[in-house]
Amino acid sequence: MTQAEFVVVANRLPVDRVVGAEGDDGWRRSPGGLVTALEPVMRSSEGAWVGWAGKPDLELEPFEFDGTFLVPVRLSAQDVEQYYEGMSNDTFWPLYHDVIAAPRYRRVWWDAYVRVNRRFAEAAADVAAEGATVWVQDYQLQLVPKMLRELRPDLVIGYFHHIPFPAHGLYSQLPWRRQVLEGLLGADVIGFQRVADAGNFARTVRRQLRYQTKASGISVPLADGSYRNAVAKAFPISIDTESYVELARRPEVQQRAREIREGLGNPKRILLGVDRLDYTKGIRHRLKAFGELLQDGRLTVEDVTLVQVASPSRERVESYMQLRDEIELTVGRINGDFDTTDHTAIRYLHQAYPKEEMVALFLAADVMLVTALRDGMNLVAKEYVATRTDNRGVLVLSEFAGAADELPSALLINPHDIDGMKDQIIRAIEMPPAEQGRRMRSLRKKVIESDVVQWSRSFLAALEAAKHRHATAG
Ligand code: G6P
Repeated sequence: MTQAEFVVVANRLPVDRVVGAEGDDGWRRSPGGLVTALEPVMRSSEGAWVGWAGKPDLELEPFEFDGTFLVPVRLSAQDVEQYYEGMSNDTFWPLYHDVIAAPRYRRVWWDAYVRVNRRFAEAAADVAAEGATVWVQDYQLQLVPKMLRELRPDLVIGYFHHIPFPAHGLYSQLPWRRQVLEGLLGADVIGFQRVADAGNFARTVRRQLRYQTKASGISVPLADGSYRNAVAKAFPISIDTESYVELARRPEVQQRAREIREGLGNPKRILLGVDRLDYTKGIRHRLKAFGELLQDGRLTVEDVTLVQVASPSRERVESYMQLRDEIELTVGRINGDFDTTDHTAIRYLHQAYPKEEMVALFLAADVMLVTALRDGMNLVAKEYVATRTDNRGVLVLSEFAGAADELPSALLINPHDIDGMKDQIIRAIEMPPAEQGRRMRSLRKKVIESDVVQWSRSFLAALEAAKHRHATAG
């Protein structure tokens, strides 16, 4: 097997399976920002990526794709149900998003989580060269850092947590709270989206494990009585800004944006929401605010349309099924009450679209609504801003999304405060072009100067520093 100097371990591989017209299948690079960010590092270091191919029971040998060595981890149908849908997305996901939905604590799910995390750790240990750098991604794999360190003490290990880390009071509900903290502390650098997440983690470690935490790091006790330093710090993730700017400048994408506006009957203002269909995104709250604005007569369907893209997600998890029913009932009610034969209140799209179409939608939208109840970062907010090369358009952004720390020139809202959200939506719709320009320029500056490549560089620089500490200690 290839021995790689740089290894990424993530729940999903950076490729999607595509089936051709003749039923033959192949692979296509996934569109995500993480994949783009790591591509240069992968190529220059002959990197490897350990992950799941996205379908149960697929038995695949490691293979080379586009300069990266891919190491598929097999998940059985039961693993998918217990480790992915269960423990990852019905326990950790709701718990870490401030219990917006009730987390379920099931011991068989935990056992599966341990078993599958071990499989990922073993696959990474097999492919990593002596002294290699391994970067583990996200909440599905929190036990991997410690497991991997036990298997391969020579490795430099980073972990990045893409979702929020909750306050100690909530976290302590978790029956396996110590094991998870110990799992994460197997890493040399543990990255979070917000300063507040890193703070929650450090406080939780102090209170649950009684480890010493300082500004320079957390002292993790070793069996021989000495200590290892683990750094827990915020590294806010971003997008591949340049590719969004480039698409937004293409004439055919701009033409498509005009077609979208026409298709909606050329309303004076288009409001846009783009989310995975997830209860953390505050879609219900957004629809409530919009419905009330129509009800109050502050908006009319002749003037304003809301386009809501809700891409299908985790469709076998009960709380996601319920959410879908609720959203579709609400959209149906609002449209039934307010549509005219010529205009619709809400254009609801339960679909995922290619990047070009998303950029055309961003260009067509006067107001972008990001109303998450809790969100690690929310990259859609940054994508919208990146595409607004004419410095027009307004971003309404929840203060509970990580992006709010970096984008204070947005109209910040508390999505639980429906009246406050309604007022900000009206303010966004009525905002004079000069104020739009002032705010958008400041937002764009931020998104242009901190893109996803800069994010991965700063995380890897912190890991590199840890490597030096290893070398001096060893
Ligand atoms: C969030 C998580 C990712 C995850 C993505 C899509 O952004 O932080 O780890 O990959 O949602 O969810 P899925 O369950 O389809 O991978």
